[in-house]
This record gives sequence, structure tokens and C-alpha cells, in this order.
Amino acid sequence: MVVLDGKALSTTIKNEIRIEVDQIIAKGDRPPHLAAVLVGNNPASEAYVGNKVRSCEQVGFSSTLIRRPETTTEEELLKIVSDLNEDADIDGFIVQLPLPSHINEEKVTLAINPHKDVDGFHPLNFGRMAQGLPAYLPATPQGVLLLLERNGIETSGQHVVIVGRSNIVGTPLGILMSRKDKMGNATVTITHSRTKDLAAETKRADILVAAIGIPNFITADMVKEGVVVIDVGINRIDDPTRKSGSRLVGDVDYDQVAPKSKAITPVPGGVGPMTVTALMLNTLKARKKEIRY
Ligand code: GUN
Repeated sequence: MVVLDGKALSTTIKNEIRIEVDQIIAKGDRPPHLAAVLVGNNPASEAYVGNKVRSCEQVGFSSTLIRRPETTTEEELLKIVSDLNEDADIDGFIVQLPLPSHINEEKVTLAINPHKDVDGFHPLNFGRMAQGLPAYLPATPQGVLLLLERNGIETSGQHVVIVGRSNIVGTPLGILMSRKDKMGNATVTITHSRTKDLAAETKRADILVAAIGIPNFITADMVKEGVVVIDVGINRIDDPTRKSGSRLVGDVDYDQVAPKSKAITPVPGGVGPMTVTALMLNTLKARKKEIRY
């Protein structure tokens, strides 16, 4: 069994990015600049945004964190988005989700200039991705593909079963892995809450991706021997043995499933760091204006 170490791979890729940034600076140009907008103080969002800002520092990017209170209005947030769209010093930006319930996330996402949409959430980028055109790819699916690629895991002809159909993970990953391209050419099954016999589907997986947000949901009886397991879940559960009183677990019961797996991602230290690294890659692309349309 191989542990797919996303933490180590993300360090490697961040070092590669750092070299490119140093070259940009050596030419007398400014480094890439990512802005993040955080509304409210959801603890998970705080942690994610903190990781993004720290990663910017590691790769030599400039970063700007725009924090606003929970009471921020939709109009105020749309003005921030519009200002970032216009700001020539910002290459790309993200609005951290979820937003407070009085703000329409779809409206905010649609207001982002697609050329600065390094999350790849704008329907224009999503549509272009689906058609195989140059686009910003959403960070988590891109991180999963990088993890597979750099660990030499073949996807062509493999049966990939994805548990979860979200707009930011399950659905785009299904599109990317079935397309005729690098890290594609797989036969993909997307399962969800209405799937009739979930275990029958997951047991057919050569590569199983869990992205449902339920702690330890995938158990040993749901996988076949020799499966490659990608655990996208990041769930905080109570653990009185820890000083903090809690710990992070994935959507896969790691202790049960790992012995049956050919390869598996741990939580933490698997997909999570790769997601942030993919965001850095998108920001570098934005700086280099690589995605043209
Ligand atoms: N919330 C959970 N994941 C993400 C992400 O990748 N980007 C943004 N903006 N918000 C998120």
C-alpha cells in the first residue's frame, strides 16, 4: 500500500512555482498577486484562507486578504468584487465560500471577471472546461489529477467512481477524468444520495473518489482489493484524547480501507494541500496570462 503524500508533493510543486516567480522578478516584473475575500468568521473558512495566504508567501506571491464582517451586504460585497476586477495589480482573486445566507453566492460568482477567476467557479470557466477549452480548472479536481499524475497512477481505461456530485468537486472531476486528455480517458460513474446500491457501485472502482463530507463514510466492505482511494473529505470530529478536543478525518475510514488499497490519500496531508497548490498554479497562470480567450 502506497500513501499518496499530498503534503510532500505540494512542497515540491510550490518549489517549482517559486523558481518561476524568481525568474519573473529577475526580469524586473512584479510577482503574481492573489487576493482572497473572507466574509464572516466561519472557522473552517478562516483556516482555508489562512493556508492560502501562507502558501502565497511560500511561493513568493503577493497576497491581499480582505476581511469583512458577517453583516456585510450583498451590495457591499459586489462592490469589492467589482474593485478587484478593475485592479490591475491583482492577477486573480477568490471569494471564500460559504457566504452568509443573506448573500446570493451565484450572483457573486457571476460578478467575478472570468479572467481573474482562479477558483474556476464562474460558469464561463466551467463551460470551457467541460468543452476541453483553455480555462481555469477548479482547484480540488486539479489537485486530485496532479496527485494521480505525479504518482504515476494511470487513469486511461480505468473505472473511476466518484461519491458526491458537488459543483466544485464531484461534477467537474467527473468531466475532467472522462475527457480525451491527460489524466482522462477513464470510465466515470458519479454516485450521490439517490444512488440505489452505493456499495455495489463503489466496489467496481479502480479509483474511488470520496467527496461527500461525511466522516468515515466509506468502509472496507465498500471497496475492492487493490483500489486507489482519493479522500477529498475534511471533517472535524470530537476527540477528547486530543488537547484541542477534536481532529480531522476524511470521508474514508482510513484504518479499515488502507489495508485493502493499492494507494490511498491520508487526511490531513492528502488532497487538502494539493487544492491550495492548484490555486497557486492558477494564480501563476493568471499572472502569465496563459489562459487566453
Ligand atoms: N470553500 C470550500 N472550498 C472552496 C474553494 O476552493 N474556494 C472558495 N472560494 N471557497 C471554498
